[in-house]
Amino acid sequence: MRLGILCSRIRVEEKLLFSAFERRGVSFERIDDGEVIWDVQDRERPYDVVLERSISFGRSLYALKLLEDRGVRCINRYDVVATCGDKLLTSAALTRSGVPQPRALAAFTPEAALRAIETLGYPVVLKPVVGSWGRLVSRVNDRDAAEAILEHLEVLGSWQQHIFYIQEHVEKPGRDIRAFVIGDETICAIYRSSEHWITNTARGGKASNCPVTGAVGELALRAAQAVGGGIVAVDLLETTDGRLLVNEVNHTMEFRNSIDTTGVDIPGRIVDYVLAQ
Ligand SMILES: Nc1ncnc2c1ncn2[C@@H]1O[C@H](COP(=O)(O)OP(=O)(O)O)[C@@H](O)[C@H]1O
Ligand SMILES: [Mg+2]
Repeated sequence: MRLGILCSRIRVEEKLLFSAFERRGVSFERIDDGEVIWDVQDRERPYDVVLERSISFGRSLYALKLLEDRGVRCINRYDVVATCGDKLLTSAALTRSGVPQPRALAAFTPEAALRAIETLGYPVVLKPVVGSWGRLVSRVNDRDAAEAILEHLEVLGSWQQHIFYIQEHVEKPGRDIRAFVIGDETICAIYRSSEHWITNTARGGKASNCPVTGAVGELALRAAQAVGGGIVAVDLLETTDGRLLVNEVNHTMEFRNSIDTTGVDIPGRIVDYVLAQ
């Protein structure tokens, strides 16, 4: 198998993946998305399989499109990345599959966004459609804050930040759940606990093991299938009345804090999946 790994910054995760491939004796080519030049007219298939690990959503999107057009099997697929990289498109995909999620409204002007916020009622959570690590995710408690944030986004933001994505705020029990899905299996999950309402481990959330038997595993798998499957990490929120909601689905998952915590060899499982393609 001619294998490529599309990357930008080499994080702990990429190092773990490289050594997992090396341990299996699998050779691969690193495709540095900052270096590569794409010959857009080329129709030759350069690899059989490409594993996408770039931290850049934009670079991944175009690279995967060009690779798939040339017959490369990409993990994840272009469509999956396009959906997961955008929270509004993710919500739409979850809706198409009837997967439970927090109530979400979208609006395209600050005026309509303010009406949407007041339709849901404070507090709401306003987030950029494209983003990660909890960046610019805002809990909005009152009208003054809503107006200020909307004005900042309108004046300072890019066109994507003028797509206002507004969710009901879910009263969660000081944690959320991150479930890892590979193919047709939820392989493990962690609780991410934090004093702060934003629980990303990149923002200081602490990881502990979460069992995947039952509802967590099932819902994560349904969410993964709703966005087109592959290798994804599903964020789940627990409600006070005991329901689980899918908050978002991540297409280039980070897992450094979850291997020892869960006892599951996540990079090894990713390698198995890639080699089975
Ligand atoms: N609607 C919500 N209600 C309660 N907490 C939320 C909500 N949306 C996000 N959060 C918290 O903020 C974190 C980051 O939000 P998320 O939508 O996952 O964005 P990112 O892509 O930046 O990780 C979540 O892990 C969760 O802890
Ligand atoms: Mg998240």
